[in-house]
Amino acid sequence: MSNTAKLQIGDNSYEFPLVKGTENEVAINIKTLRGATNGVITIDPGFKNTGSCESAITFLDGEKGVLRYRGYSIEELADKGGFLEVAYALIFGDLPTEEQLEKFHSDIKSKSLVDDDVKKIVDAFPKTAHPMGVLSSLTSALTAFNPTSVNVDSEEDMYNSVVKIMGKFPVLVAWTMRKKQGLPLNYGSKSLGYVDNILKMMFEQPNEDFKINPIIKNALDKLLILHADHEQNCSTSTVRIVGSSHAGLFASLSAGISALWGPLHGGANQAVLEMLEAIKEDGGDTKKYMAKAKDKNDPFRLMGFGHRVYKNFDPRAKIIKKAADEVLKDLGVEDPILEIARGLEQEALIDPYFVDRKLYPNVDFYSGIIYRAMGIPVEMFTVMFALGRLPGWIAQWKEMRLKKEPIGRPRQIYTGENHRDFLDINKR
Ligand code: ACO
Repeated sequence: MSNTAKLQIGDNSYEFPLVKGTENEVAINIKTLRGATNGVITIDPGFKNTGSCESAITFLDGEKGVLRYRGYSIEELADKGGFLEVAYALIFGDLPTEEQLEKFHSDIKSKSLVDDDVKKIVDAFPKTAHPMGVLSSLTSALTAFNPTSVNVDSEEDMYNSVVKIMGKFPVLVAWTMRKKQGLPLNYGSKSLGYVDNILKMMFEQPNEDFKINPIIKNALDKLLILHADHEQNCSTSTVRIVGSSHAGLFASLSAGISALWGPLHGGANQAVLEMLEAIKEDGGDTKKYMAKAKDKNDPFRLMGFGHRVYKNFDPRAKIIKKAADEVLKDLGVEDPILEIARGLEQEALIDPYFVDRKLYPNVDFYSGIIYRAMGIPVEMFTVMFALGRLPGWIAQWKEMRLKKEPIGRPRQIYTGENHRDFLDINKR
């Protein structure tokens, strides 16, 4: 293959270099397009064909259903890894040695207290507030409590900001849930593992000793790993673009949380469960809902199906489906909506509408069923996604800042009115 791409506009021809990734993906580098062509730009709504950066963090092949963090396959990471070591690999590039992991955890623990005044902000929210709105606000508020900006040229400063947010974020997650449930806002214990501590902070009751259920701990560990990064998705691109203005890490993360909230992205896990519940309440007629999803005059979509990048099985969905079966069995939970989910999946996999459009179950289709079995309220599902995605967002923000990427500022093609005169109000 040649190393350049040719573009013909009218009588003029232009040449642009090709960029090749380590997995042989190819892009046309159009950096010089506008200057060379006297103002011509590309337009690509939804960025379906546009690469925003070169990145060494996560590789995915949507046609083959492959997902790797830093070269390690998601199947192996979910099977053998722990969330904290996966987080380390995403943020620093390689799986940690035992010593590195121990130091990382110990540094995180040393930064895990949140200023007690943050509780006043939590108090001010109504109990009815959606946890994603609360989490995004609290993450942004951390900027006010930690006002020193990170010197990205200092490795030490960068490291400190990473361990700070890895330590404080789970506290905010737990407080977000506890506020809703009217439980005291607690701190964890330094003697526990990272994921065990998250469970303690979320579920500990003020009047009884807290015991870790290993089934729940292992399931959460796996879910967090599966959600930890997914290259340039909507929330990650948001984190990178907000960070590109040199807004701080916490402010960039807060914006990412808001982006994740939408039902077309991370909010789908809540939407899936609500959809499955609605189908159950309506008599469990999956065929009726399949027909609704296919009806172009009906806004209903089969939540948890389809993906911008995967045109094959989402490899995370395969792992989660198996985990859902195991967790429900181990916990002795019989959830009728699991049957409805299985039914919908079976029908979709042979339905020409879904087959032709390559719509397969995505990561969110089965995750809510596990979260529910673990005792996590539906409105907290997307918060759990954010907790898992945190290391990915950090890694992507760090990569973007270290590469000194320019501020993200797309262009547009203007389609509004041409110049017109201002008319006095009585003449309009
Ligand atoms: N149910 C019914 N039809 C669907 C669905 C669905 N879930 N998803 C896509 N389609 C149809 C579209 O109507 C469209 O049909 P058309 O070609 O006849 O117009 C075609 O499939 C392509 O869909 P697009 O919306 O163009 O695909 P896009 O890549 O823009 O959207 C998205 C991907 C947003 C994930 C979409 O599939 C969707 O809305 N799914 C449901 C929400 C969901 O589960 N989101 C979570 C994604 S995973 C994550 O973010 C963590």
